[in-house]
Amino acid sequence: MTLTIVGSQLGDEGKGGIVDVYGSGADVVVRYQGGDNAGHTVVQDGQEYKLSLIPSGAVRGNVGVLGNGCVVNPRTLFDEISTLRERGLDPDVRVAERAHVILPYHRILDGIEEERKAEEDLSAGTTGRGIGPTYEDRAGRRGVRIGDLLDPGTLRARLEYAVPQKRALLEDVYGVPVEDHDDVDADAFDVDALHAEFSEYGERLAREGMPVNCGAFLAERRAAGDRLVFEGAQGTAIDLDHGIYPYVTSSNPTAGAAAVGTGLGPGVIGDGEVLGIVKAYLSRVGTGPLPTELGRVDGQTPAGGGRPDASDVAEYVREEGGEYGTVTGRPRRVGWLDVPMLRHAARASGFTGVAVNHIDVLAGLDQVKVGHAYELDGEELETMPTTTERWADCEATFRTFDGWPDVDWGAVAASGYDAIPENARAYLAYIAEEVGAPIYAVGVGPGREQTIVVEELL
Ligand code: IMP
Repeated sequence: MTLTIVGSQLGDEGKGGIVDVYGSGADVVVRYQGGDNAGHTVVQDGQEYKLSLIPSGAVRGNVGVLGNGCVVNPRTLFDEISTLRERGLDPDVRVAERAHVILPYHRILDGIEEERKAEEDLSAGTTGRGIGPTYEDRAGRRGVRIGDLLDPGTLRARLEYAVPQKRALLEDVYGVPVEDHDDVDADAFDVDALHAEFSEYGERLAREGMPVNCGAFLAERRAAGDRLVFEGAQGTAIDLDHGIYPYVTSSNPTAGAAAVGTGLGPGVIGDGEVLGIVKAYLSRVGTGPLPTELGRVDGQTPAGGGRPDASDVAEYVREEGGEYGTVTGRPRRVGWLDVPMLRHAARASGFTGVAVNHIDVLAGLDQVKVGHAYELDGEELETMPTTTERWADCEATFRTFDGWPDVDWGAVAASGYDAIPENARAYLAYIAEEVGAPIYAVGVGPGREQTIVVEELL
């Protein structure tokens, strides 16, 4: 039995909480794409753990695997493992030998390219973790893989090929001289320094028995009857192929990538459950279109975008949902649920069920709207257009639901689905109908206990 978990919107759907709930019934939790650009919080025995790379299941005693589709920064990996150990846990983490390694120069180049793009209003607002440059090197066949760290000769050969190119890119294309630039760590462009640091990571990985042939490892565990969860990071609308290109991440959060990114066949993923995670409204950091946006955030909402006449609703949702940047404290953009985005996500991944989070945040509003469709050039569209520029031209057409009261959500969670206020259940039934998949779980608060499980999957 397998369960693949996919974000259906812009990446902040609350996947971590759902992985946590279903992961407790799993033996192995596998990430199949992305790297330390993800962020999830796991609460275990009253303690909060913030992770960006290690699969959240590792906190709960599952085996956590970083699949070959991931990009792995060994510094982050060992930092997270050390933090967990200091707090008394003993995480069992395996890393695919075919996964690519994020090197220090990837992070530096990610930052510099974003700065340059910002000058042209093109920045994707990346997390600065070097994700894009590492995937570029993977596709360009000049990457370094986890398996290469285990073999000092191969590692040196890979670095000797790649590093001069990176240095030339920095100095000759971006005009940033390595040695006399304050923000640039010169060791990041030095083969010997990189070799010393990263071959040591290789030794440590080997010593701790972490490297695996991911597909073979998982196939064996599956044959032994283990239950596997494939944990997608980010979301469909920022998928490299199916998202709002070029404002996307450089991997595929959609379910197809769970096969490529683990080394198991698509039949394995398709035979299991594919659970789409939906946030009951939208939130977004950064610029770019958002057809169902409420209010506007200066500096982020494009000129003429948003709905200034609905800024009180925007404020309400932002406050109730805590929609402020965790680092910057800046308000996030918020919007009504975008149903064409959900239909697109459900098709791209083949959802067999959905989990809807944060319906408690919308409680207390008189009316709750959804962007049911778009109007584009006088035609009605039920799904997202293929280009971001055309998406910007879409006018959302809305449906209105009666609001639901703010109730004791802890008590609701303890009682189960039928205790959810009737109007909220009508909203959930509408979502299920539109995406063509039943509701498997509903999040009514941030904690694990506040997720109502309708369908036990594992
Ligand atoms: P990158 O993945 O760091 O290259 O960033 C590319 C885009 O994806 C940016 O718009 C990021 O804000 C967004 N992004 C990356 N990871 C996440 C995530 O876990 N949640 C939400 N957005 C993300």
